[in-house]
Amino acid sequence: MNKQKAAVLISGNGSNLQALIDACKQPDFPVEITAVISNKEEAYGLNRASEAGIPCHVIKHGNYATREAFDKAMHEQLLHHCARIVCLAGFMRMLSPWFVAQWQGRMLNIHPSLLPAFKGASAVRDALNAGLRETGCSVHVVTDEMDAGEVLLQAKVPILPGDSEESLHQRIHAQEHRIYPQALKMLALKLVQGA
Ligand code: GRF
Repeated sequence: MNKQKAAVLISGNGSNLQALIDACKQPDFPVEITAVISNKEEAYGLNRASEAGIPCHVIKHGNYATREAFDKAMHEQLLHHCARIVCLAGFMRMLSPWFVAQWQGRMLNIHPSLLPAFKGASAVRDALNAGLRETGCSVHVVTDEMDAGEVLLQAKVPILPGDSEESLHQRIHAQEHRIYPQALKMLALKLVQGA
């Protein structure tokens, strides 16, 4: 099978990266991960990539004078690894409009809310504080506006009495790990068909 090459950008634990790695191991999954890039050298996700034999790179944003210079360094690595798709998986940096334009329609993000509700970095806490009975997660196409691109897949997650931010996030994670590979597959097949 002719697989689409993808790279994953992370900043931390990388449990979503792991879900993508596991999915890509399936012979009939239309994507292979050719690189993992982290802006943090302590990101546990780097261990997951190494264990899976995937080349990984630490590119520290602090070493670059501007956001765009950092993004250009990442972009070079992505091209070097022939990536055609970029998956953000807990990548905690805003991307420059230049970078977003390079990957238009080819970059996905996973977000822990039912977008358009609760954009931003405290989505799980915000849903909990809102006193709702349900939240969830979304995989969306990345555009210039944060957490605002087309949503490809969502999953609902109940908010249970006594939930802490941690217990709720754990339940959300389980759904993220299910829908992120599905959404990646959808995008890969769409790109192959030239749709
Ligand atoms: C996930 O909850 C994702 O929705 C958010 O950051 C978290 C990353 O978790 N963008 P992990 O590093 O994949 O475990």
